[in-house]
This record gives sequence, C-alpha cells and structure tokens, in this order.
Amino acid sequence: MYKISLITGDGIGPELSESAISVLNTINDKTDVKFEITKLLAGDIALKEKGKALPDETLAAIKNSDVCLKAPVGESAADVIVVLRRMLDLYANIRPAKSYPHMPALRDDIDMVIVRENTEDLYTGKEFSLGNASVALRIISENASKRIAKYAFEIAKQRDGMRKVTCVHKSNVMRITDGMFAKACADVAKDYPDITFEQMYVDACAMNLIRQPHQFDVVVTTNLFGDILSDESSQVVGGLGMAPAANIGDKFALFEPVHGAAFDIAGQNIANPSSFLLSIKMMFDWLAAKHNDSKCTEIGQKLESIIFGLVKDGIKTKDIGGDKTTAEFTAEITNRF
Ligand code: NAI
Repeated sequence: MYKISLITGDGIGPELSESAISVLNTINDKTDVKFEITKLLAGDIALKEKGKALPDETLAAIKNSDVCLKAPVGESAADVIVVLRRMLDLYANIRPAKSYPHMPALRDDIDMVIVRENTEDLYTGKEFSLGNASVALRIISENASKRIAKYAFEIAKQRDGMRKVTCVHKSNVMRITDGMFAKACADVAKDYPDITFEQMYVDACAMNLIRQPHQFDVVVTTNLFGDILSDESSQVVGGLGMAPAANIGDKFALFEPVHGAAFDIAGQNIANPSSFLLSIKMMFDWLAAKHNDSKCTEIGQKLESIIFGLVKDGIKTKDIGGDKTTAEFTAEITNRF
C-alpha cells in the first residue's frame, strides 16, 4: 500500500486533481497496486484559508507519504513548489517532450528530455534592494552542477537512439556562474565516453528547439533556463496540456504538470488532465524502480497507452483540437482501464 499525498492546487488544479483521483481509484479497484490518497491544501487557497501557502500540516503529511502528487498552484507557486524542491532536495526536474502519433507536434520524430537543476540559480529567491537598484543572486555550485550532470548522463545511458547530452548555458556572458556549470558538465562527460556531449548557448537552444527539435536527446541546464525551455519543448510536441514532469531526489519524489494554474480556463471543465495523468505515469515508473515493483511499471504503461489511444481515436480535449470536457476525457480513461 503506497501512501500518496496530493496537493489539489489552484485554478485548474482542483479539476485536474478530481481527474487524477478518479483514475487512481479505478487503478485501486481494478489492479493489484493499492494506495491511499491524502488530499492536501497548498498555494493561493491555503494562503487565503490558513494564512500560509505551504501550511505546516501539509508539509508534515507530504513527509509522511511515499510520494507526492502536486496539481498546479497559482501566484504563490514560489512559496510552495520552489520551497518543496529545496527542502526535500528534489534536485532533478525531469521534463520529457515526445511527439506521439496524432498529436499536433512540429515533427513526428521528437523524443527529448530536459533535465533541469532544481535547487539553485535565480530560484533560490535571494533578492534585495540596493538603493534604487534591485539585485538577484544567481547561485551555481560545482557540487549541484556535477550532481545534475551525472543524473542527465545516467538518463542518456538508459535511452535508445542517439544517446547525446546537450549542456545548455550562457557562459559567454555569465562567465563565472555558467562557466562553472559548463565545466562541471564537461568534467562529468569524461566518465561517459559512449555518450556524445555537446554544449549550446541558451538562445541558440531556444531557436534550435523550433528549427531542429529532433536533434535533441537529453538537455541538461540550470534552473531558470530549464523552466523556460521546457515550456517551449512542451509546445513543440503539442502543448502544455500534455506535458508531465518529475521532481526527483535521492529519497523522495514529487510529480506535477509542467504548466501552471491556467486561471484563464479554470472552472470551465475544459482543461486537459493528460499533463497530470502522464505525471502519474512517471510516478508509477519511479515507484517501480524504488520498490522493485514491476506491477507499477505495467500500470504506468497502460495509463500512457490509454491516453494516446484516446488521442488516436480523436477523443481529445479542446487544447489539442478535440471537444471532450475534462470529466468526459477522464471517464473515457477509466472505462478503458
Ligand atoms: P500556465 O502554464 O498556467 O498557462 C499557460 C497557457 O497554457 C494558458 O493559456 C493555459 O490555459 C494553457 N494551459 C495550461 N495547462 C493547460 C491544460 N492542462 N489544458 C489546457 N490548457 C492548458 O501559465 P500562466 O498563465 O503564466 O500561469 C498561471 C499561474 O500558474 C500563475 O499564477 C503562476 O504563478 C502559476 N504557475 C504555477 C506553477 C506550478 O505550480 N508549478 C508553474 C508555472 C506557473
């Protein structure tokens, strides 16, 4: 029995959470993998109701669980997810982007993963005013850079195909911080002679993601660049509604969509729950590896194949050209499980 903590979030978060609970309950009923779900408050709603975006009881419940699912939160995201990533040392943010048949991708041969350093850079939130100037500290350490580079190479090692790691930075301008990141990645690359290593400036990477996205395999980069590039890579393969993500540490992991609370479509029952459900697929893969539980792998694969089977059959939400509501799309998934 796995204990899953679930932050229900803001904006479209509660709708995505309802979808996730419905699918998880179906898995609980129809398969041998069992779990209990604890719904938790965090984000704008928690700030309003409890006076804190990440209430103590939410944090305690997460720490007491085997794994955390997080629907998107709103304006208080920095006080929730950025804090959780650092507090739980979830140093690797994994954001895959793959073109699937019948999806509105730029090309049909894209299969890449962004590995984003998740604990440092400008996202440490160390900002202050200095007279009439505003200052933000960009912190890049050798240890964290080597740790994420190693993670990226280990992912590349397990992948089929080109097995290439592209280190993305801007060391021609930020010579000390990105210079250290680039050197750390290049040092780690020496331990992986079978994997191609290349370096690319972040502006060129943003352009190449449009021009030749199929040339990427594993991209390793710093926190802010990874955040921006992964929104772009998601759009390149069809949109944020299909974009999952994992935040992984040595002991714990948290799974959430790439996107935010999407207030522009909240409460309309039109959000695509696939981003969250494919994050749950990643959760099953992580549980399978951690607990040596092959049943979790099977369930993750089944969930993914049901989602893309629906897309193939033209059963889609509005963001990818369909007419199904969030609830209708979810019901189709549970029916096929
Ligand atoms: P967003 O990622 O929420 O939305 C960008 C666009 O993508 C919107 O047009 C939205 O409708 C669309 N979209 C996103 N998810 C979708 C889905 N599942 N189905 C269909 N369409 C979808 O970005 P935005 O609007 O800049 O941010 C909204 C809020 O989310 C902000 O308050 C921000 O702070 C927060 N945020 C939270 C994050 C987190 O919880 N990890 C990450 C990013 C933003």
